Amino acid sequence: MIPLMELTRQYKSLEGQLDRAALKVLHSGKYILGEEVAQFEKEFAAYCGTKYAVGVGNGTDALVLALLAAGVGQGDEVITCAMSFFATAEAIAVVGAKPVFVDCTDDTYVMDAAAVESKVTGHTKAIIPIHLYGQCADMDKINEIAKQHNLYVIEDCAQAAGAQYKGKKAGSMGDMGCVSFFPTKNLGCAGDGGMVVTDKEELYRLCQAYRVHGSGENGLLAYGKKKGIEVEPGSIDFHGNLPKYFNFVIGHNSRLDALQAALLRVKLPYLDGWNQRRGEIAKRYHGEITNPAVKKPVCGAFGSHIYYVFVLEVGDRDSFRAYMEEHGIATGVYFPVPLHLQKVFEDLGYHPGDMPNAEILAGHGVAIPMFPELSEEEIDKVINCVNAWEG
Ligand SMILES: Cc1ncc(COP(=O)(O)O)c(C=O)c1O
Repeated sequence: MIPLMELTRQYKSLEGQLDRAALKVLHSGKYILGEEVAQFEKEFAAYCGTKYAVGVGNGTDALVLALLAAGVGQGDEVITCAMSFFATAEAIAVVGAKPVFVDCTDDTYVMDAAAVESKVTGHTKAIIPIHLYGQCADMDKINEIAKQHNLYVIEDCAQAAGAQYKGKKAGSMGDMGCVSFFPTKNLGCAGDGGMVVTDKEELYRLCQAYRVHGSGENGLLAYGKKKGIEVEPGSIDFHGNLPKYFNFVIGHNSRLDALQAALLRVKLPYLDGWNQRRGEIAKRYHGEITNPAVKKPVCGAFGSHIYYVFVLEVGDRDSFRAYMEEHGIATGVYFPVPLHLQKVFEDLGYHPGDMPNAEILAGHGVAIPMFPELSEEEIDKVINCVNAWEG
């Protein structure tokens, strides 16, 4: 079977380095945050072209902490795209705000930036564009709308570590960027992991506060922001106790493990090469898949797509998937239910037909194998099979 994604080939290619990095952490006795995480935060921020990075438990938490840092809460609205993994909308709901959905485009599949402005109300506090499938949303347009209406922009970069838009890296264009290091992601660790990147010192400190129970000096800053008062740094006497035992706002326990950071530090220097290889595979798919019964994704004019997944649209998806499986090729669906039609959001009052592009993608989109270690023979087989499908 040709898998959709496969992790052991990458592990094998870096086995010695990864094993040494993991063992070093095990021997260190320092397992949460610490030097490995601090170093990785620096390296990842430099990679993204941002000043700061905050290592957190996973990509979902990165979104939650970024929203909290932006002061988003009860009564606020956050505009996002109807086509994403559930976590994007879940994070908005978790902080007590209301997700407001716009459609994706019918060819690049990222947030339809032209549809955003009409959704802005007096309650809107932020926009979360998703760099879906590895391609950046149209950030110039989104940032312009945000500027006009004084909104935060939080980039969901979970599927796009290393993607670019007009020469800028995903995560460096909004107020904050949220990354996932879930194992299957372009930069994946060996468990859960995530990061918030930002250029803004205050947001950096607020994310640091919210990842450790709203404690310490950064927690005090968060308290001041919440109450709308100026707080003097150093104004609290911790009486020689650990500042982490002094809590100022309700936060989370969401920190990156040293083990994950150590593995990610080994992998980061390879990320651009892996993304480039994904681009080469995509180039073959784009050039050699010629079956007219299959619609291929469009790469927007403004950037580099890093093909976290390669999604086709087909008429009868079930029969396509069964056919591919018969021929030993795995496929996947990202995602079968658009966010506005998820049962959990029924009270928001959306109906089928509200987001036609997202609904078509949810019903007809199908991902074919995509990971850097795919062999040329495997790619040949995928292309030949897709071309021979009698849709
Ligand atoms: C677009 C998007 N946002 C957020 C997340 C959440 O990331 P994590 O699984 O690390 O919590 C994912 C992960 O699949 C994702 O694809």
